Amino acid sequence: MHLSSLLLCLSLGALVKCEHTPSHWEDLSGSFCGEKRQSPIDIVTSHVETDSNLHNFTFVNFTSQHVIKSIVNNGHTVKCKLEENEVEVSGGGLDGVYSTIQFHFHWGDTEHHPGSEHTTNGHRYPMEMHIVSLKKGLAVQQAVNDSEGIAVLGFFINATEDEDLSEPWSMLTSYLTNVEDTGVNMSGNISINDLIGNVDLTKFYRYMGSLTTPSCNEAVVWTVFQEPINVNKKLIERFPMKTGLTNVYRPPQALNGRQVFASPATPLPPSHPWCYDDHCEHNPSHWHLLPQSHCAGKRQSPIDIKTQSVVVDEHLDDFTYTQFDNKHAIKYITNTGHTVKCVLKDGLVEVSGGGLGYVYSTLQVHFHWGTASHDSGGSEHVVDSHRYPMEMHIVNKRKDLSLKEAVQTPDGLAVLGFFIEATDGTKSSGDSGHEQTHPTPKPTSDMTAWKTLTSYLSAIQNTSSQVEVTKEISIDDLLGNVNRSAYYRYNGSLTTPSCNEAVVWTVFKESIRVDQNLMMMFPTEAGYHNVFRPAQPLHSRKIYSTPSASSTPGPIILSLLLACLCAFFM
Ligand SMILES: *[C@@H]1O[C@H](CO)[C@@H](O)[C@H](O)[C@H]1NC(C)=O
Ligand SMILES: *[C@@H]1O[C@H](CO)[C@@H](O)[C@H](O)[C@H]1NC(C)=O
Ligand SMILES: *[C@@H]1O[C@H](CO)[C@@H](O)[C@H](O)[C@H]1NC(C)=O
Ligand SMILES: *[C@@H]1O[C@H](CO)[C@@H](O)[C@H](O)[C@H]1NC(C)=O
Ligand SMILES: *[C@@H]1O[C@H](CO)[C@@H](O)[C@H](O)[C@H]1NC(C)=O
Ligand SMILES: *[C@@H]1O[C@H](CO)[C@@H](O)[C@H](O)[C@H]1NC(C)=O
Ligand SMILES: [Zn+2]
Ligand SMILES: [Zn+2]
Repeated sequence: MHLSSLLLCLSLGALVKCEHTPSHWEDLSGSFCGEKRQSPIDIVTSHVETDSNLHNFTFVNFTSQHVIKSIVNNGHTVKCKLEENEVEVSGGGLDGVYSTIQFHFHWGDTEHHPGSEHTTNGHRYPMEMHIVSLKKGLAVQQAVNDSEGIAVLGFFINATEDEDLSEPWSMLTSYLTNVEDTGVNMSGNISINDLIGNVDLTKFYRYMGSLTTPSCNEAVVWTVFQEPINVNKKLIERFPMKTGLTNVYRPPQALNGRQVFASPATPLPPSHPWCYDDHCEHNPSHWHLLPQSHCAGKRQSPIDIKTQSVVVDEHLDDFTYTQFDNKHAIKYITNTGHTVKCVLKDGLVEVSGGGLGYVYSTLQVHFHWGTASHDSGGSEHVVDSHRYPMEMHIVNKRKDLSLKEAVQTPDGLAVLGFFIEATDGTKSSGDSGHEQTHPTPKPTSDMTAWKTLTSYLSAIQNTSSQVEVTKEISIDDLLGNVNRSAYYRYNGSLTTPSCNEAVVWTVFKESIRVDQNLMMMFPTEAGYHNVFRPAQPLHSRKIYSTPSASSTPGPIILSLLLACLCAFFM
């Protein structure tokens, strides 16, 4: 994008004429072009994350046929100037109102070499249009020094062959000239919306970047719309032909750890092409082949907890739970295609103590399950080779780290794992042949919370769908009165790709008891089953345990007493 008419060479076609090609922009004085938040970028859709805060935009005077004032060939691009203080954009996750000042274009050459600046999954569109707005109230010089001073709306332009030449684009391109000038009046009756056409404005990507021409100031909140504007190929050709400018775009820049987000309406591919069964290329035995995978590491999870080899650690004390009783802590429930995940409100729920050594922020709660059959096993951890019906994972991130840092730190994450078993009272009547060897277990939680939670499952049957949680459920409600003082501890990993070895695991000994029919809703409503990873080799790791209840004085005294009683009666 172009704010100034600096003497620079953008055009690859002008290579021979100029030494300041894009790779040398960083050498220009006062340039930010070599910094870490540069634009454009390649948008890799499998790495994009949906952000529910990217609401609809509000556009002011985009439909007005009187706001496009003039058109200028400035030697680097063609720019349409707008009437001042009449066109505005807000919403769309932008912080406040932005005042739109101009739009301009990037294109390739007459040989049909495409020339968009952004690319998606490596695909370059024929052209790109940039609508440039400054934070309302800021002058250009102030805006370029503000990290969110400028909002640019980027539209890809796709070449079509249909006979129908769009009238607005015909009119716009009729003004193109190879004469650099200060601008000719556009007396035409076209609006910005006429050019945008029927692009779905609720589908867009968002990231923080820079101007794409020197000085490349890192001041731009970028919006790149997912759907292209379709324009006839003959009209697209007019840009290089009539202006004499070719290949006016900057190549993609490194992301340097930035995250690209998408509005909720934007279709995204499944974020990881992996699965638990054999219905995809990457089942658990192939997860190590996925990009950036740690799945073949030496401290992987889950594991089989062999109780014989567990070591007691006196430092494993009780946890401190903050806001676990908050009945409005769950923001929404989503079906990721691999699990059902309850995403919590940011920075509200916390856990510490329990030998963790740091305060951890609770991010989400999710589940692992087997099939809808009453005797199915679906937990990830197994104890002495016994697999429980389900397992619940409460995922926490060290509060002092960003998520990105946390997944690269050996104790960056702490996951609390709870086994889930059926309460007995709800066994189906056709089940009478099944011998019960243990006394009837009582539910460890009031079933109301589990009923409420599972009542949302029917609304998220589609992968990637989510539903806002409005009913009251706290994490404490789900845990009920399960014993939280007795647990196992070991160093492990995430149990899904990329299997980062960043998790301090806590696996509680007592299971949560949940109504069998509610448990069955996970496989039946989500539409998939057996979502657990097999146990991984322990290698040289140790599993620790809280001091067991039998080592505390109470039972010892009791057994001594019993011994005495026995002696007495003998
Ligand atoms: C956003 O806009 C779309 C289409 O214009 C509409 O269907 C949807 O309801 C809007 N969403 C909100 C939250 O206003
Ligand atoms: C929209 O443009 C008209 C003139 O075309 C102007 O009178 C009006 O103030 C503009 N609206 C806003 C909100 O700026
Ligand atoms: C781009 O245009 C081509 C040719 O008309 C068409 O086949 C294709 O679907 C268009 N792409 C998009 C994303 O609209
Ligand atoms: C612009 O005006 C011409 C007549 O002057 C008319 O034929 C055309 O439909 C108008 N275009 C738009 C986009 O309103
Ligand atoms: C699931 O997706 C289908 C089509 O893809 C749609 O018709 C249906 O309404 C969606 N269901 C829910 C609950 O969102
Ligand atoms: C986990 O690893 C750290 C660092 O290697 C070590 O200090 C700690 O004792 C380990 N914890 C467990 C439970 O093995
Ligand atoms: Zn631009
Ligand atoms: Zn899990």
